[in-house]
Amino acid sequence: MGSLNNKRVLLGITGGIAAYKCADLSRRLRDAGADVRVVMTEAAEAFVTPLTMQAVSGHPVHQYLLDPGTESAMGHIELARWADIILIAPASANFLAKLASGRADDLLSTLCSAASAPLAVAPAMNRQMWHNRATQDNLKTLQQRQVLILGPAEGAQACGEHGPGRMLEPVELVDAIRNCFASGVLDGLNVMVTAGPTWEAIDAVRGLSNRSSGKMGYAVAQAATEAGATVTLVSGPVKISSPDRVHTIDVTSALDMLDAVNQYIDTADIFIAVAAVSDYRVAHPATEKIKKTGDAITLELVENPDILAAVASRPQAPFTVGFAAETSNIETCAYEKLLQKNVDLIAANQVGDSDSGFDADYNSLLVIGRDYKTLLEKQYKTRLARKLITIIAEQYHAKNTTQDSRPQAR
Ligand SMILES: Cc1cc2nc3c(=O)[nH]c(=O)nc-3n(C[C@H](O)[C@H](O)[C@H](O)COP(=O)(O)O)c2cc1C
Repeated sequence: MGSLNNKRVLLGITGGIAAYKCADLSRRLRDAGADVRVVMTEAAEAFVTPLTMQAVSGHPVHQYLLDPGTESAMGHIELARWADIILIAPASANFLAKLASGRADDLLSTLCSAASAPLAVAPAMNRQMWHNRATQDNLKTLQQRQVLILGPAEGAQACGEHGPGRMLEPVELVDAIRNCFASGVLDGLNVMVTAGPTWEAIDAVRGLSNRSSGKMGYAVAQAATEAGATVTLVSGPVKISSPDRVHTIDVTSALDMLDAVNQYIDTADIFIAVAAVSDYRVAHPATEKIKKTGDAITLELVENPDILAAVASRPQAPFTVGFAAETSNIETCAYEKLLQKNVDLIAANQVGDSDSGFDADYNSLLVIGRDYKTLLEKQYKTRLARKLITIIAEQYHAKNTTQDSRPQAR
């Protein structure tokens, strides 16, 4: 079962009696690894206090839409962008009606209408409210819009009645959220990912490197694991921790990276080269620290091997995906790279923008194949990586289906 490590869960609490279970729900989501932010409706505060939810979630609770102070700290659009998934638990009959009609008159409903993250609701209400025609119509509308409806369960109700309308237990909700991230599209496949920069030594303390943080590659490795793959990550020197359930091999230089890739590539079905590998290395790095002499010095640089092209040209090449960082003419450059290196897909991004690309939390990607092109808009790298993995899986399966259905040579 998938873990919620590094997942951002926005927990929306509305005004139902089951809100008292949200402290437990928040704690369980965090125990599963999730970062939890809580947004409460005004009615919810009558059932559980923001102070309690702040203590158990570890973050201040978001309550108000029209408050300049909170809006400038982390406003509704920021919250909407932040979330990997939005879970409304409990979801009141009133809130389901608001969602179905697209209303945006408080913080929670407004951010739901501004979010592209998946939305899950855990309805909880009296059984008559649940059976009410309007509530049932609203649920149908939400289902048609791909909103995930979790529950409700049947049983004894707070009002003394018995029937459907109990919120699912926190442990069941956590399992349901975990399942949202486990797509299974790469089940049984071996995926190798390279990530981070490389470090090419000049002397004992200095080197040539670049601004790659490894965030994109690590997010891709994590997303491939969530999709069911067994993942080997070959990583240059980065400051972030290894993703959960990923076999990580730490390397320093481009030559080290190539060695590690060669060691494991035979078993890979898919190779995703996210690393920003140095094109050049110093021909003769000094073993000691180079001392100042007062004179200019010259470094002789030699070209590094092209790891992506080397993998793509193997006789039994895996499905290969390259990343391209471009400063202009992204589409043309990416298409040229695709043909020149004979890879299956290129994911190209524009670098130079301060809050996306290298060393940033956001990125956008133009994904190009021989007969394929799609733009993944700017979003958190974790979410972007999941979308990219879905595309890679589709293209991988499409290629293998075509090859399998070709007449076999005799
Ligand atoms: C004691 C009490 C318990 C309530 N329990 C529920 C409930 O379990 N489910 C529900 O849909 N509404 C319940 N309501 C009604 C909601 O609180 C009311 O519809 C409110 O407007 C919901 O606001 P919200 O959707 O903005 O949170 C309850 C009201 C009271 C007074």
